[in-house]
Amino acid sequence: MTDLIEAARAQRERAYVPYSHFKVGAAVLAGGRVFTGANIENASYGLAMCAERNALFAAVAAGCTQVDAIAVIGDTAGPISPCGACRQVMAEFMAPGAAVTLANLHGATTHTTVAALLPGAFLKGDLNA
Ligand code: THU
Repeated sequence: MTDLIEAARAQRERAYVPYSHFKVGAAVLAGGRVFTGANIENASYGLAMCAERNALFAAVAAGCTQVDAIAVIGDTAGPISPCGACRQVMAEFMAPGAAVTLANLHGATTHTTVAALLPGAFLKGDLNA
């Protein structure tokens, strides 16, 4: 898991954040490979895309739709807290018990799970009820 945090920390440097100046990095483990993402903003502010979703989508775009773990890092006082949209996307591609590591730049980390971050997630099975 340390490797995943370090991959997220390195990718964070690639964040494109001319508006918020708040860099976030994420790294996922999927199919034995590591995929990374950073947040990317836009002059049309609402189009910003979070680091977590960029990392998850990179894995999916490479054909890895089952993600085993994710690490996220940002310059927060404590471990960073993923937004609701990213929690929902984690629930789409990760098992409820899959590992989520949240970190800040100063070594604070929290180990949690997808289900703990988003209890009662809306899932594909709900479409077939
Ligand atoms: N952001 C992320 O990339 N991940 C998070 O977990 C929280 C927020 C981004 C979105 C936006 O580019 C900036 O941080 C400020 O909200």
